[in-house]
Amino acid sequence: FPKAFIFDLDGVITDTAEFHFLAWQKLSSDLGITINREFNEQLKGIGRMESLERILSLDVRFENLSFEEKERIASRKNEYYQAFIKTIQPDDILPGILPLLTEIKENKIYIALGSASRNATKILEQLHLTSTFDFVVNAASVSKGKPDPETFLTAANALNVPNADCIGIEDSAAGINAINGAGMFSVGVGNQTHLHKAHYLVDETSLLTFEDIIQQYTDWKN
Ligand code: G6P
Ligand code: MG
Repeated sequence: FPKAFIFDLDGVITDTAEFHFLAWQKLSSDLGITINREFNEQLKGIGRMESLERILSLDVRFENLSFEEKERIASRKNEYYQAFIKTIQPDDILPGILPLLTEIKENKIYIALGSASRNATKILEQLHLTSTFDFVVNAASVSKGKPDPETFLTAANALNVPNADCIGIEDSAAGINAINGAGMFSVGVGNQTHLHKAHYLVDETSLLTFEDIIQQYTDWKN
């Protein structure tokens, strides 16, 4: 058996990936920039400022913005986002996640959160999942975000488990690269086009079962 499961939050535990997209879309539209879902795939898993940089780079008008100006725009996005997540509650946990968490716990395997979001702790509280997690990576203290493996390595170190005994679950290409780079077993939730590097891929969270994941992980290890 593995020793730890490290979960991404947005788009894995709950559908806040959609709210991030809607907030970025609203902000972009304020700036006169259009972004679509395909472009949004490259924003998934990466930090707030980095996401903003990618959006601003779509339009030469924003070439010379000061850092203060960018911070102001980024916090406007966060205000939009926080308005969307205000009403999140336990019902909003994605299908299949609660039974999976329960089975992991029953098997005495650690559960960690490896999210780039500075809103992660608040969302876990709203979902009533805070006590389920043995460790939550603090996004603010990670120096290199996904696709760098640091987020996942931080969780493994904190739990004092070998990297190869960890399973990471992600809905973003950046996140899958981070898990693979950490030498862990990667589980992708989403489609082949974006997540083809995942060791094991399912279309949606309802298809995540403890039994299948362990089976695939065991095959990978041997
Ligand atoms: C996660 C999400 C990204 C989001 C980032 C920062 O990685 O996948 O879409 O931009 O967290 O979130 P925050 O809540 O700190 O703005
Ligand atoms: Mg995600």
